[in-house]
Amino acid sequence: MTDNGNPTQGPHEPDGQVERFDTSTALPLDQGHIVGTGGIPEQFANPGLPPHVHRMADHDEGAARRAEKQVATLFGISALATVLFVVCYFAIPRDKFSFIPLVGQANISHVTLGVTLSISLLGIGMGAIHWAKTLMPDTEVVEERHTLRSAEEDRHGAVDTLLEGGQGAQIARRPLIKYTLGGALGLFAIPLVVQLVGSLGPAPGDELYTTVWKKGTRLVRDPELTPVKATDVTIGSVFHILPEGIDKTAYPMNEKAKAAVLLMRLDPKDILSQKELDWGYHGIVAYSQICTHVGCPVGLYEQQTHHLLCPCHQSTFDVTQDAKVIFGPAGHPLPQLKITVDQDGYLMADAPFAEPVGPSFWERG
Ligand code: FES
Repeated sequence: MTDNGNPTQGPHEPDGQVERFDTSTALPLDQGHIVGTGGIPEQFANPGLPPHVHRMADHDEGAARRAEKQVATLFGISALATVLFVVCYFAIPRDKFSFIPLVGQANISHVTLGVTLSISLLGIGMGAIHWAKTLMPDTEVVEERHTLRSAEEDRHGAVDTLLEGGQGAQIARRPLIKYTLGGALGLFAIPLVVQLVGSLGPAPGDELYTTVWKKGTRLVRDPELTPVKATDVTIGSVFHILPEGIDKTAYPMNEKAKAAVLLMRLDPKDILSQKELDWGYHGIVAYSQICTHVGCPVGLYEQQTHHLLCPCHQSTFDVTQDAKVIFGPAGHPLPQLKITVDQDGYLMADAPFAEPVGPSFWERG
């Protein structure tokens, strides 16, 4: 690679000769467009490398030592986090939940393992980057390209070597070895599968088909967990709802992922389905918030059209017609929760969900 005005090295020719071309007529990069012609020149001048900027650590031994300590500190933090990860793995029970600010109820084991492993990886990554930026050589190197394809004779040689290996091993002549090797390798996968399946934990049973909603469960606001009176729900309003007592369950976040409900009030004249009217209360209707496509929360209510939209893949449900799907990939209406009021006027479930909530495939099989 040379400066302007000197011959420079061009691409390699197939026979290994390097083509040389004259750059005396080449244009600088910023003049590449030839005004008025709309064309571009045949070649651009080699812009060369920008001037090298020395880093502090290149000429100041004190700065280099500081950088060394910083890198070592980052690696040390990583090592410490790894040790903490192992300690947390064995010391913290898997089913311990606690309140964490900004997160809410969370599994302590999951959080500590995630945080320590993140710090461990982050420490290694940041240490390596800082090392590269401060102490490793930073001179720029230009490597000329060459033909990547191997020479024909090398390619034939590789194929011959493979064939010779096969013949030498006598695979074709020794079927006993061939079949027993196939059997051994095939069976070798079983321990891996057994460990994987055996470590998945207990089978979910009917958990995927049921929620914590049952007859008499009050509807409470999410996240305040305060009960809702029928008189609070005005036409056009929408509430994010949870079942009362969900915070007392063993796995509140898991339960919430199935039991979240949207509560809306429509003018009963706008509701086209008799079943929807019967399962609601004076136009107040409650539908599962879990999209029947792949389970995103359906959170957008368009009160003029009475459409519920899922933001993930735009499935749209018509609340005037049993929340049936009118657009998008969801294959099933949102399940309706049958509601009524208690003697104090608070809304409560009149029955559990009559069908599984969430992605439609739970119902198959
Ligand atoms: S999850 Fe709702 S449309 Fe895909």
